[in-house]
Amino acid sequence: MKKLKPGLKPSMYKEICKVLSQEKVAPGHFVLTLESPKISKNAKPGQFVQILCADSTEPLLPRPFSFLDADSKKFSILYHMVGKGTEILSKLKKGDTLSVLGPCGNGFGLRIEDGGWRIGKRQYLMVGGGVGIPPLYHFSKQLIKNKISNKNIYIFLGARDKSLLLHEKEFKKLGVHLYLATDDGSCGHKGFVTQPLENFLSSILHPPSSIRIYTCGPTPMMKAVSKIAQKFEVPCEVSVEVPMACGFGACLGCAVTVRDEGSTGHRHAIACCEGPVFRGESIVWD
Ligand code: FES
Repeated sequence: MKKLKPGLKPSMYKEICKVLSQEKVAPGHFVLTLESPKISKNAKPGQFVQILCADSTEPLLPRPFSFLDADSKKFSILYHMVGKGTEILSKLKKGDTLSVLGPCGNGFGLRIEDGGWRIGKRQYLMVGGGVGIPPLYHFSKQLIKNKISNKNIYIFLGARDKSLLLHEKEFKKLGVHLYLATDDGSCGHKGFVTQPLENFLSSILHPPSSIRIYTCGPTPMMKAVSKIAQKFEVPCEVSVEVPMACGFGACLGCAVTVRDEGSTGHRHAIACCEGPVFRGESIVWD
């Protein structure tokens, strides 16, 4: 794995973005759309923005949010209201402004050496839970825009209950294969989303080399997905969720332990620069 240098990159922009819309999409979950001439144009699936939620010192630090969608003029995020910063966000109205830095991080499987999205025959399996779902929607849309058939995209969504299966209808509109799981059985498989994934991998005839798995969501889910991918010998990319105070390698607060060929066998990777997307097998999960 390549070690990347910290610091602001030429592809990152700081913008004052105007709120275009705000919509409640599930209990405690909102989609916020912001006008942005520069960040949105450069946004890749799996990358994120750092949003300063208030002008005052409370909260002091910006918060990271993955792209849910982006085009040449605007981008959206889907967030869960869990603290002071996101509570402030939830009260924003059309026309309000926010200070935003991005796009930050590397993003999903666009690297040619990974045989990324340019190979049309590939089967794309995406496994998401909670607020890990938005980047998978962005990725699916980008794949389809780049002439990958929606029939080659398989989405596995997990949630506590039906009301929290975020963006389910929008995935349906894309025409992708959709597998759902809820803890309480109110929709789809009752239990973890990893079970439908494992069932799927056990039943298909495609060689593992034609499949890629991408996952984002709670750490135990991603750990389980990564283990399943290794069992079936399918390459897997995970987008880690760690606290990020700066988003460009300055605070060193987003370290993730990854395997390394050095003497100790591991090292700390700076997730905002080298990630947030890593190969599943490179992460030291325990
Ligand atoms: Fe500051 Fe990564 S968030 S170094």
